[in-house]
Parts: sequence; C-alpha cells; structure tokens
Amino acid sequence: MLPERIERATIYHFVTGFYARVQEHPRLGPVFNPRLEGHWDAHFERLTDFWMTVLSGVPAYKGNPFQVHQALPGLSPDLFEDWLGLFAETARDMLEPALADHAVEKSRRIADSLQQGLFFRPASAS
Ligand code: HEM
Repeated sequence: MLPERIERATIYHFVTGFYARVQEHPRLGPVFNPRLEGHWDAHFERLTDFWMTVLSGVPAYKGNPFQVHQALPGLSPDLFEDWLGLFAETARDMLEPALADHAVEKSRRIADSLQQGLFFRPASAS
C-alpha cells in the first residue's frame, strides 16, 4: 500500500541519491554533468517538485519536460534504457516497496511519452 502522505524530505533524499548515481554513470554522467555543473542544487529542488507532483498530486512542479529534453543533444532510446534502469535500481534501494513500484511505473510511462515526442517520426511527415 502507498503511504498516506508522501513526505517531501523522502523524495528529496531519493532524488539526490538518484542523481549521485547518474553523475557516476559512464553514459549518463557525460550528458548531465556539463549541463548541470554549478546548478545541481536547483535541479534537485526542481526534480523534487516534479516527483512530488507525479507521485502525490501536489501542484509543486510547473514546467515542460518535453521542451527541456528536446533541447538536449545526444539523447537516444539506449540512453533512456540506462536512465530507466538506474532509476528503478535506486527506487528499489531507497524507497519503500509500494512507493518504489509506483515511481518506477510512472517513470516508464513518462519516458515512453517523452520518447514518442523525441524519436517517433511518422513516415508520412518525412
Ligand atoms: C536519457 C534519459 C534522460 C536524460 C539524459 C535526461 C537529462 C536531463 C537533463 C540534462 C536535464 C537538465 C536540463 C537543464 O536544466 O538544462 C533534465 C531535466 C529534467 N528531466 Fe531529464 N533526462 C532523461 C530522462 C528523463 C525522464 C525519463 C524523466 C521523467 C520521468 C525526466 C525528467 C526531467 C525533468 C522533470 C527535468 C526538469 C525540467 C525542467 O527544467 O522543468 N528526464 N533531464
């Protein structure tokens, strides 16, 4: 069962744990590190807002992840696989099981929809 109330501190702790692993990852690190150097604290706050909104419905995050990722060079379906794998591993290590499952499920759906927009090009449009 999901916890009745999801604490921001729990999500902040998870977000910082996830991005600590991202920074060390051989393929994800090089995409994130140059972009977020000197701005990691703001990113943690923003991503905590994002996951609070996704996981518990509080209206904390305002933004457009699609636009942000569209502007990033070098994204690929393989990189999304890496991201999703690391996210699931971190969620299972750091969150209680029901919340981890919920977060993993949401991450897959959001990644699918981002990838539809980023990589899917209908043949008729080419
Ligand atoms: C290959 C996979 C991914 C890579 C390499 C990636 C990389 C990045 C980077 C570098 C930023 C910071 C951009 C900036 O502020 O300049 C960012 C922002 C963000 N990412 Fe990702 N990302 C990936 C997948 C995802 C997925 C699957 C999600 C959601 C489930 C996600 C959610 C976000 C959000 C919410 C932001 C903040 C957007 C904003 O500023 O409003 N990302 N991402």
